[in-house]
Amino acid sequence: KVADLKGLKQGQLRLAVITTAKYFVPRLLGSFCQLYPGIDIALQVTNHEGILERMSSNMDDLYIMSQVPEHLDVNYQPFLENPLVVIAPANHPLAMQKNISIERLADEPFIMREPGSGTRRAVQKLFDEHKVMVKVKLELGSNEAIKQAIAGGLGISILSRHTLTTESKDLTILDVENFPIQRNWYMVYLAGKQLSIVARTYFEYLLDAAKQFANQTISSSVFHADENR
Ligand code: PGA
Repeated sequence: KVADLKGLKQGQLRLAVITTAKYFVPRLLGSFCQLYPGIDIALQVTNHEGILERMSSNMDDLYIMSQVPEHLDVNYQPFLENPLVVIAPANHPLAMQKNISIERLADEPFIMREPGSGTRRAVQKLFDEHKVMVKVKLELGSNEAIKQAIAGGLGISILSRHTLTTESKDLTILDVENFPIQRNWYMVYLAGKQLSIVARTYFEYLLDAAKQFANQTISSSVFHADENR
């Protein structure tokens, strides 16, 4: 019976996720823990480089990240889109414009994530491809702090759309060519590792929850785009 099976699911789950996944994963853990009260969880939130370090010393069962490591033998599965968007204060002069050229971003003070951040790496790659040199006014190691700095008028930045919540009313997404940068969140684990029942249960739970979340956000992001124009 299902109840008996659930009772069997006991033990610890060790997760490490990139900073942008913290807007998604902890909330979901609530309902997971209600379903499986015998499972205890240790969750680490760190940047891309931090995840790679933890992974190479085999510290966790599962990892959530946006760029699958090239130099480690891993299994992975994409489960949700993670678009990177240009974020500005809601009252920014560019907020009303459409199809802003990527070169135009070079005229704006820019807020950049810290070295070791996967977001920074993806942003830098796109800028390099288009030979855009932004003026980095501020370097910050936190998505939340960057949002506050944008709202405070220090500059614009590029962050995962998942960092925007219903409280982000003083921020807007700019319509810039070549954006969003399309990325995914992946669930990753070391190839040599036999996943525990607990980890496998979580893996499947998350895939399922992501499907539902994707359906919800498709409708709410359409709503947001209209609201921002
Ligand atoms: P970060 O990870 O926190 O290292 O920027 C986000 C990402 O790689 O998408």
